Amino acid sequence: MINIVLFGPPGSGKGTQAQLLIDKFNLKQISTGDLFRYNMKNDTDLGKLAKSYIDKGELVPDQVTIDMLVDELRKPTNTNGFIFDGFPRTAHQTDALENIVKDELGTEISVCLSLVVDDEALVQRLLKRGETSGRTDNYNEEIIRNRIKEYYAKTAEVAELYKNRWQVELFFKWLKQHLKIKRFWGTTENAVRIQIYAAICAYCLVAIIQHDMQLDRSTYEVLQILSIFID
Ligand code: C5P
Ligand code: MG
Repeated sequence: MINIVLFGPPGSGKGTQAQLLIDKFNLKQISTGDLFRYNMKNDTDLGKLAKSYIDKGELVPDQVTIDMLVDELRKPTNTNGFIFDGFPRTAHQTDALENIVKDELGTEISVCLSLVVDDEALVQRLLKRGETSGRTDNYNEEIIRNRIKEYYAKTAEVAELYKNRWQVELFFKWLKQHLKIKRFWGTTENAVRIQIYAAICAYCLVAIIQHDMQLDRSTYEVLQILSIFID
C-alpha cells in the first residue's frame, strides 16, 4: 500500500495533482475539503457546523475533521492506497493520522509531497477558481487571505513535522537539483506532475532497496547514495 499525503497551501493544486495520481496508481483520494462540501450541499448537521468555519476561511475543529476522516476510511474499498488531500492541516491532525492509518489500515504514511507556491500566485489562482467553482471560501480576497493566514498559523508546521520524519523539502530540492526540473520545465503544472511522479518513483525505489537490503538508513540517505549512479 502506498499512502500519500499531498500537502500545500490552499490553491497550490493538491486536488488537481491528486486526480492525476488516482487514475495512474488506482489510489483513493480522501479530500476532507470535498467531504465538508458534500455535507454542506446536503445540509447535514456536520455540513452546517463546517460551513460556519469554512465561510470565514477558518479551520474546522480538529476532532470534527478527524471523526469524519475515520468514517471515510472505514468504507470498504479495494484500493492500492490513499491520497490524503488537505489533511492533516494541524500538528494534532498529523499525529492523529499516524495512529488512524496504523489502527484502521495496519500500515503507515509512505510519503508526504509538499507543493510550494508563492502567496500572491495563490491569491490569484484562488480568485480565478472562485469565478467558476461557486465555492464560498474562494469568493473574496479577504476570505482567501484569511485561509492563507490560517495556513501559516496552523498548517505550515505540518511540513516541519514531515520534514523531520521524511525530509520532505530536502527530498524535493534533491529531485529538482538532480532532474534539473526548473531549468527544463519551469514551474508549470506539468513540472509539478513530473516532480510528483519522480518523487513517488524515487520513494518506491528506496522502499524496495531499504526492505530488500534491510538498510537502516533514512530515505534521504539512500537517495544520496543512489545519486552517485544518477549523476
Ligand atoms: O482542502 P480544501 O482547501 O478543499 O478545504 C476547504 C476548507 O475546508 C478549508 O479552508 C477549511 O476551512 C476546511 N478544512 C478544515 N480542515 C481540513 C480540511 C479542510 O478545516 N483538514
Ligand atoms: Mg482541494
